[in-house]
Amino acid sequence: MVIVKTATSIDDLKNLLKGKVGRTSSIGFVPTLGALHEGHISLFERAKRDNDTTIVSIFVNPLQFTEEGYRDYPRDIESDSVKAEEAGVDILFAPSTEEIFPPGYQAEFSLPHLFKALETQKIVWHYKGVLAVVLKLFNIVQPDRAYFGMKDPHQLILIKKMCRDLNLPLEIVSCETIREEDGLAKSSRNRLLSTSERSASAVVYKALCLAVEAAKVGGVSAMPEGLKILRKTIEAEPLARIEHIEISDDETLEPAGPGSKGAFAYAAVSIGGKRLTDNVRFKLGQS
Ligand code: PAJ
Repeated sequence: MVIVKTATSIDDLKNLLKGKVGRTSSIGFVPTLGALHEGHISLFERAKRDNDTTIVSIFVNPLQFTEEGYRDYPRDIESDSVKAEEAGVDILFAPSTEEIFPPGYQAEFSLPHLFKALETQKIVWHYKGVLAVVLKLFNIVQPDRAYFGMKDPHQLILIKKMCRDLNLPLEIVSCETIREEDGLAKSSRNRLLSTSERSASAVVYKALCLAVEAAKVGGVSAMPEGLKILRKTIEAEPLARIEHIEISDDETLEPAGPGSKGAFAYAAVSIGGKRLTDNVRFKLGQS
């Protein structure tokens, strides 16, 4: 069986890239936390179509998790390697924690206005951790394009803004969310759901679609109605508990308002203690 070339240190990665990447060849990069599923694979396939070399990183980033979340995050590098190989990934970068964050590491990157809008979710520290690792991985891999899912809209918007503000020399490519047949967004957390929780979880996408239908037709004045529908639909599912819902401007992350061009309805819902997040994007004032 052929196994995808894997680098576990920055030096390994540089050695693998030597000779592979000429002056005219392009690198596509997909950062992940591992526990790969079809959502990740769709990003790999897109990167492969657009670039000469596709690099995927698997790194469970301690800076973006609580201690418990970090400990419990699923890790299965062997099965991930097989999936990456099957998807045609050229190089897997799976560094140790110490390689990325050696003792004494302290740099962080802040986007104060966007972080302010995120305070309602009380997870600014999480996004600081995401930006720290993504910036670091961009510097190590030096890709021409990096691929991110619209499944995580806050993350995507923050990363795009960081790249613009710092003139990072790469393109950020946004990719559509891959879903199960009933609309549930593919996620490594889905495998933790029991059968009844799994059927209950279809409510998240359903509620987001209903909210967007109401919000996009009526424009800005229909936002409260959209949010109400989102809340009521999720609350009607006994196993679901709302952690956070919002309809946000897709540039400022503030509540969508008169100045907004694009927006997204977002829900973070706990089902049986498992946090599921999803969103549906829309243009304001368009049916
Ligand atoms: P992870 O959750 O592994 O996701 C890696 C990439 O896959 C992200 O860009 C995410 O938006 C995308 N993705 C996840 N589910 C998807 C789906 N159903 N359809 C399409 N794309 C999907 O996001 C992270 O890792 C981390 O925060 C990371 C960026 C790697 C930084 O540590």
